Amino acid sequence: MSLAADFGVTLTQHVLGNQGHHPEARGQFSALLTQIGVAGKLISAQVRRAGLIEIWGATGDTNVQGESVQKLDQIANDTFIEVLRRSGCVAVMASEEMDDVVVVEPELAGDYVVAFDPLDGSSNIDASVSIGTIFAIYPRTSPRGEASAADLLRPGREMVGAGYIVYGSSTVLTYSAGETVDSFTLDPASGEFFLTRADIQMPQRTRVLSLNECNGPYWEPWVDAFLADIKGRNDAEKRRVTSRHIGSLVADFHRNLVKGGLFLYPVDKRTGRGKLRLLYECNPLAFLAEVAGGAATDGGRAILDVPVDTLHQRSGLVIGPSEDVQLAERLYRA
Ligand code: AHG
Ligand code: MN
Ligand code: MN
Repeated sequence: MSLAADFGVTLTQHVLGNQGHHPEARGQFSALLTQIGVAGKLISAQVRRAGLIEIWGATGDTNVQGESVQKLDQIANDTFIEVLRRSGCVAVMASEEMDDVVVVEPELAGDYVVAFDPLDGSSNIDASVSIGTIFAIYPRTSPRGEASAADLLRPGREMVGAGYIVYGSSTVLTYSAGETVDSFTLDPASGEFFLTRADIQMPQRTRVLSLNECNGPYWEPWVDAFLADIKGRNDAEKRRVTSRHIGSLVADFHRNLVKGGLFLYPVDKRTGRGKLRLLYECNPLAFLAEVAGGAATDGGRAILDVPVDTLHQRSGLVIGPSEDVQLAERLYRA
């Protein structure tokens, strides 16, 4: 048994140690990440109680994505917005759940802008399956007091930080400020996030394949060629690749980051567009993947280079070990 002083690195300690990389932020960047940790704890507490109190099921509303809003979507959205608004670090934010951006009042406005998916994997809530929150942080580009949606309509390449919180068998917060990807586990006893995985490198050998195979008939032909290549590897080596799919992108990505896996949600050829949202889902996870030595593409381009024209823009996504993401790009172009 360890001594009382022998505890791990907390999220706050870690974030403060990273502060040197953003000297222009005068500490706001650190405060923002710390407050995102607070929002994560508050949402986690609600998720853990779902089923015990009346927060399973839908609100009856439909969101801007045309999807049914779950009660926990609403709770997570309101919590994230309120914590970030009060943080004093954010000028404007965009949420997957809201038609338009939330502009923070001048007295509280800060130097950053944030795009987030408050609750990813909504369809899994009522089955107590892993869900999560995803966030992307950019420096404010507009003059003080003039923040607007334009601050968020920019390529993912301009992000300065990103991360997610998975509410799974434990609550895990993963973030990167561009140097390393680090992961923290919420200790339910102390209510503190402790560092549990430092400088995560995505294994470069694809071991896991995760996608919704039922969409197969609606993919472009290159996707079939790509999947045939990956599955064919099992001819040479038994169980070289195996399939795992949760249906909560954030939890699928977390597993793939740790174990070496590819996640695909290709464009549907009937509509010519993907399902996943560039600002709230693809970009932040692409940022983390690249820092961890992986990659993400829409087929033709790195996700982080895709021009952003609208807040709720959707994209095809292949994300995982670099070599296989490059293979997807070659097959897409062929
Ligand atoms: P959200 O719950 O935020 O709307 O996102 C759900 C996303 C993603 O998490 C998941 O991978 C994908 O939608 C699942 O979609 P399908 O049901 O079409 O497979
Ligand atoms: Mn989502
Ligand atoms: Mn969502």
